[in-house]
Amino acid sequence: MSITLAFDVYGTLINTHGIVSKLMQFSVANAEQFSQLWRDKQLEYSFRRGLMQSYENFAVCTSNALDYSCSYLGVSLSDEQKNELLTSYRRLPAFDDVIPALQQLKNAGYNLYAFSNGTATAVEELLTSAGISDYFLGVVSVDEIKTFKPNPATYQHFLTKSAATCSSAWLISSNPFDVIGAVSAGMKSAWVKRNSDAVFDPWGIDPTVIISKLSELEQHVAL
Ligand code: 2OP
Repeated sequence: MSITLAFDVYGTLINTHGIVSKLMQFSVANAEQFSQLWRDKQLEYSFRRGLMQSYENFAVCTSNALDYSCSYLGVSLSDEQKNELLTSYRRLPAFDDVIPALQQLKNAGYNLYAFSNGTATAVEELLTSAGISDYFLGVVSVDEIKTFKPNPATYQHFLTKSAATCSSAWLISSNPFDVIGAVSAGMKSAWVKRNSDAVFDPWGIDPTVIISKLSELEQHVAL
């Protein structure tokens, strides 16, 4: 049986805090705190848009969250600087463990997909600029059904698009809400806990496995 691996993108393959250096270039005080608030608000906006059935794509959530973060933290940025930040956000770097792990998994014969809240165009740009697009059979985006993770429909959409079954498909994600969404939808899931301080939501729905880096994945997702 072939195994399909759905890699979450932002926060799992791609380091959203890669934006910190650009924020520092614009003299944003507490750039790490700013980056964390920006990311948290971006996700909150996607959840709320999903609940309100008021879909705008993930780039809109990102842009609105940038404006919010500036207002909340009293950071004054020009429109040009904001546009530069949003351009950099489309070219964020991959985490260091990503390329060797993808190479290893591709060589071993797994079916690799990127599965994201981002539009297919945005994700393809991101994967290409990070030098990892060739490892994937394709990109599956929630934009195709106009809602966001963790709506169960998004995981079903992934299974349909990849022609995989629940029993042979894993979601690989650093985002606990995504892991819980996938497991609730019947998939298996690996939580990538890169930071030892990371906390998993206490909902009584556990990841199938917990790994601290992507190189540990292959030993758990046996073919
Ligand atoms: C992604 O879908 C959840 O941001 C994350 O790429």
